[in-house]
Amino acid sequence: MNRILVLITSCMFSLVLISESYAQQDAYLIGDDIAVFYPNNYNAPSHTPSIALLEEPTKLGEIPDDWNIDVHFTEALGKRIVEISTIGSPDFYGTGEVTGSLIRNGTTRKIWNRNSFSYLKERGNNLYQSHPWVLGVRSDGSAFGVLADNIWKMEVTLGETIEFNSESEAYRIIVIRRDTPQEVMQALGQLTGTIELPPLWSLGYQQSRWSYYPDTRVKEIADSLRLKQIPCDVIWMDIHYMDEYRVFTFSPEHFPNPTETNNYLHNKGFKSVWMIDPGVKLDAGYSVYDSGSEVDAWVKTNNGDDYVGDVWAGPSVFPDFTQPKVTEWWGDLYKDFMATGIDGVWNDMNEPTIFSEETNSMPLDNQHKGGGELPEGYHKRYHNIYGMLMAKASLEGIKEVNPDKRPFVLTRSNHLGGQRYAATWNGDNASSWEHLKMSVPMSINLGLSGQPFNGPDIGGFAGNATPELYGHWIALGAFYPFSRAHSIRYSKGHEPWSFGTDIEDVARTALQRRYRLIPYLYTQFYKASTTGMPIMQPAFFAEPDNYDLRNEQEAFLLGSDLLIIPKWAENVTLPKGDWRSISIVGEDSGNDTYQPDIRIRPGAIIPLGNIIQNTTEYSLDTLTLYISLSDENTAEGSLYHDAGEGYGYSNGEYVILNFTAKASEKDVHVNISSISGNYSFQNSIVQVKLITDAGVFEAEGKWTEEIVVHTK
Ligand code: NOJ
Repeated sequence: MNRILVLITSCMFSLVLISESYAQQDAYLIGDDIAVFYPNNYNAPSHTPSIALLEEPTKLGEIPDDWNIDVHFTEALGKRIVEISTIGSPDFYGTGEVTGSLIRNGTTRKIWNRNSFSYLKERGNNLYQSHPWVLGVRSDGSAFGVLADNIWKMEVTLGETIEFNSESEAYRIIVIRRDTPQEVMQALGQLTGTIELPPLWSLGYQQSRWSYYPDTRVKEIADSLRLKQIPCDVIWMDIHYMDEYRVFTFSPEHFPNPTETNNYLHNKGFKSVWMIDPGVKLDAGYSVYDSGSEVDAWVKTNNGDDYVGDVWAGPSVFPDFTQPKVTEWWGDLYKDFMATGIDGVWNDMNEPTIFSEETNSMPLDNQHKGGGELPEGYHKRYHNIYGMLMAKASLEGIKEVNPDKRPFVLTRSNHLGGQRYAATWNGDNASSWEHLKMSVPMSINLGLSGQPFNGPDIGGFAGNATPELYGHWIALGAFYPFSRAHSIRYSKGHEPWSFGTDIEDVARTALQRRYRLIPYLYTQFYKASTTGMPIMQPAFFAEPDNYDLRNEQEAFLLGSDLLIIPKWAENVTLPKGDWRSISIVGEDSGNDTYQPDIRIRPGAIIPLGNIIQNTTEYSLDTLTLYISLSDENTAEGSLYHDAGEGYGYSNGEYVILNFTAKASEKDVHVNISSISGNYSFQNSIVQVKLITDAGVFEAEGKWTEEIVVHTK
C-alpha cells in the first residue's frame, strides 16, 4: 500500500521520511506562537481563500526550537489524515456544536452539517454546524488550539492524539500555543474573526414558537407579556407568516399587513424577527422564483438542470450562494422585506435540509458555479458552508438596506468563522431533562469554538415540557447568551404563563434577573466582539490549572466574574475562594428552588441596572455595583455602554468605566479609576452593595465621586 509515515522530531522540526511521498512540506509561524503546517501535496486552489480564516496567513518566522506540538500528515484508504500529538495528556474541548460531555476526550465527531431532529441522528454526534477546531488544556493550565483549515466532510477523533481525517485534498493545519485557554480563544478570534457588537435588544429575552399566527395571536402574546410584566424584547415569526411557505412573502390571510404588525410591536417596545429559509418554491409567477431564475440563481444537478428538492413549500429550488450575483440578488430581496419594519432575520433549514432526499440534504454531485473568490465545485465541497454563505448573503443584504442599524441574523447551520455573520441556536433539541442538562456543555463548547452568541430553545423544542422542566429551563435560560423560548408545532407553548401561575412567577423572576444584569452582559458581548472571548465560559476558566474543574459542566461562568449554579446541579465543583451568592431581584439565590445560585468572584465589581420590561427602557440612570473583595481587600470591574444601536460606537460614542474598590480599616472606597470613550449618559445615582460574610453593606453616591461604604 502506498502509505507514508512521517516522523517529525519535536525540537529540530526536521523531517525524517520513513516511507514515500506524503510528508510535511512546510511549516512556519504566522503569528506569535501560531504556526501553520502544510502537507507536501497541498493544493492551494482547493482550499483557498480560507473560509474560516479572516485572511490568508503570511510567514512571520521560523518554528521555534522549543515547539512541542507535532503534526503528522498521512494517507490511508483514500483519506487524508492528520495526527497532532501533544505533550501532557491534555483535556480537549471545542469541536463546535456537540452533544455529550464538556470534555471531548475519547470522542469521534463527524464534521458534516446535518439536520438532526431531537439530536437523534448518529446519537447526536453530528449536528447542524461544522467546527474543525479543538482546544487543548494541559494539567498546568497551559493551552493550545488546533484548526484544520478544511470545509469538506471530516472526522475528528480525540484520543491520545488529535486526529482529523477527510476525503478532501490534503489540508493545512494551524496550531496556536498559549499560556492559558483564554489566550487561545483570543488568538482564535484574531484568526477567524469575532462577532459584531449586536444590537442591545438582541440581549433581551425572546419569545418564539412554531408558529405564532395569525397576526392577532402575535399581538396577543405581546400584550400578555406586557400585561403580566414579564420582561421581553423580541417576538419571533416562524414559517406560518409566509404565503404558503414562499420566502419573502406574507400570508394575505394571516399577515395581511406586516408593517402594521411590526408597528404594533414597536409601539410596545418589542422587536420582531422573521424566518427566511433557503428553499424557494418552484412556482412560475412567484416573484422570488422568477427574479432568481432570471439571474440563474439555482444550484444545479450534475447534468446542469436546476436542482429541485422538497421542503415546506413542496418542490423548491435553492440559491447557489457561491456566486456573487446570487448573493447580491438574495441581498436585494431584503429591501422590501425589511421595509415592513422587520428587525432581525432567522435563517433556518440551511444545512440545507431537503425532505425528498434520503440523505435529508442535496446530492453531493450537485454543482455550485462559484465566482469571485470561490471556484466552481460540487456540493460535496460546499455543503458545510452552505448555511454560512446564506447567513453572510443575508447579513450583507440587510446591512445594505439598513446601513445605520446593527443587523441581527440567527442561523441554524454554520461553519467555523461564521460567528462573523450570525448568532446561532442549538437546533431542534427536546423537552427533556437530558437536553436541559446537556445544553450547558453544548453552549460552552460552541463558545469555545468561536461562537459566543448561542443558546438552545428554552423549554426544549420537540415534545412537551412539564411545568417543572420548563420552570428550571427558563430559570437557567436567563443566563444563555442567546435567550429564547421556542417550541414545536402542536406542542405546549413555551410562553412564561403556559404552565400556571407558580411557574409564571419563576419565569418573571428569572427574566428580571437577566434584565438587571444587562450592563454586565452587554460588557461581556463587547468583550466577545473585540477579543473573541466566550460569554458562557467553563468553570475551569476561573482556574485553568485546577484539574478538578475540568469537567464541571453543570455550573458555568458568565463572563469571568459570575458563577451560575443551576438548581438541578448534583455534583458541582467550584473554583477556589469565597464566591458569594448574590440576590439581585429579592430572590434567595442560594435557596430558591428554581433560580440558579449566582455567585460573584472575590475581587469583582458587577454593574447592574434596574428591572426593566425591555431594552428600550434601558439606561444607566440608576446604576448598582455589586462588590466582593478579594483576599487582598480590593476589587475591580468594568462597564461598557453605548447607544445600544447603530455604529456611533465605532466613532468613539461609547464609554468604558473601570471601577475599583479598596478597603481601609473601617470603610471600602469605591471609585471610577478610568473612563474612555465619549458617549454621554445620564446617571442620577450609583448604589453600592458590598457582599461580605458578615452581610451586605450599602452606600449611595454619584458616579463622579468616590463612594464610601462603612463596614463597621
Ligand atoms: C426547524 C427549526 O429548527 C425550528 O426551530 C423551526 O420551528 C422549524 N424548522 C419550522 O420552521
